[in-house]
Amino acid sequence: MTIQRTFIMVKPDGVKRGLIGEIINRFEQKGFTLLNAELMNVDRQKAEYHYMELKEKPFFEELVDFITSGPVFAMVWEGESIIEVSRIMIGKTSPLEAMPGTIRGDFAFSKAENVIHGSDSLLSAEREIANFFDPLSICSARDKDYPFDE
Ligand code: TYD
Ligand code: MG
Repeated sequence: MTIQRTFIMVKPDGVKRGLIGEIINRFEQKGFTLLNAELMNVDRQKAEYHYMELKEKPFFEELVDFITSGPVFAMVWEGESIIEVSRIMIGKTSPLEAMPGTIRGDFAFSKAENVIHGSDSLLSAEREIANFFDPLSICSARDKDYPFDE
């Protein structure tokens, strides 16, 4: 058992297209637990910190422009091997490679605007969660009252 936490974000295109519910649904149906979620605007500092590993890439400025262009739906999810499993559910970055059945395969048609973000490692997940959420605001799936049926 490797219970992990990850940072999942519906990007501005996904929010505009009304895909928040669809995406939450897929993660709930997979058996993962939602620990926090917020619809929010992202400022440039937060966006640049979020994508710090891509700072030297030619598309970095456009990426920051895009992420700050409208509200995102930021979430913390927990579950078994969720970092690897969520990346499979999300699908490849490019719409030419994202398989049908994955979120990007089913909904994305642009490489730059591809509906959803998911952390790619434990280290990134910790950094990304801390960038978007106060640690005290994150529910614990092991709290006696959550999930509600336990
Ligand atoms: P990356 O972390 O490589 O992809 P992923 O989101 O699948 O982890 O890149 C972050 C985002 O940057 C990606 O979702 C969309 C954007 N991007 C581009 O606009 N052009 C590109 O060539 C790449 C690789 C990414
Ligand atoms: Mg990435």
